[in-house]
Amino acid sequence: MHSPLSQTGPSQLLASPRSAWFAAFAWALGSLNPSRPNMTALPRSAGRQADHPVDPLFIERWSRRAYTGEPVPDAVLFTVLEAARWAPSGGNSQPWRFLYSHRGSASWGAFFDLLLPGNQRWAAYASALILLASETTRLRDGQRVKATSHSFDAGAAWAQLALQAEKLGWSARAIGGFEKEKARLALGVPDDLSLEVVIALGKPAGAAMLPADLLEKEAPTSRLPLSALAFEGRFPQG
Ligand SMILES: Cc1cc2nc3c(=O)[nH]c(=O)nc-3n(C[C@H](O)[C@H](O)[C@H](O)COP(=O)(O)O)c2cc1C
Repeated sequence: MHSPLSQTGPSQLLASPRSAWFAAFAWALGSLNPSRPNMTALPRSAGRQADHPVDPLFIERWSRRAYTGEPVPDAVLFTVLEAARWAPSGGNSQPWRFLYSHRGSASWGAFFDLLLPGNQRWAAYASALILLASETTRLRDGQRVKATSHSFDAGAAWAQLALQAEKLGWSARAIGGFEKEKARLALGVPDDLSLEVVIALGKPAGAAMLPADLLEKEAPTSRLPLSALAFEGRFPQG
């Protein structure tokens, strides 16, 4: 699991009255810090093995179902939403919208009721449920026009949220299995918002808390090899 975000960058060091050599020395020391990701290695985590060097965070993140149910502090909730806010989007339209509910709060029942039964089985111990919606129109030259990348952009926001959660020692799992029309009515979702996913956010717990069939599945999944996904110049034919 990753340590929280605090890192001293060179600009902060240079802002002090210390001389430039000290800043360079301190930064070099920081770059040798074993807690920093080693970008020359091929990261491996719980059955996942990268084909090429990437930040270990990408390999270590996975969507858990087993959570402690403990309250999520604002520092975590707003930091994961903040990470999502900084996602890229078409024309910087930022179509993502978030509606959240804390476990045990007055709104929790309305959120939880939206989940399909198979998802309710594990999401009961999430600390928060976050509805991710996206604006289907955007402003261009003062006019509302159809947005063409709102779902794609919302996906980028979800990915950033999930990575940030992992980095804070929390976990997020996207849930497409929920009742969208019911959500629209129950949560007052405006007509021009498209419902994307509900996100379960929780503190990882031991998988033994899950029912046997889910316990069996509670492990990081693998990925197709990059060689089956990325090609140069032209797609292979046939
Ligand atoms: C759009 C979307 C919808 C999903 N819907 C569900 C769902 O309804 N229930 C569930 O248990 N997991 C759901 N997942 C989680 C995926 O199954 C999971 O992300 C995938 O297996 C990859 O595993 P990983 O996230 O642990 O790497 C969803 C994920 C995405 C991105």
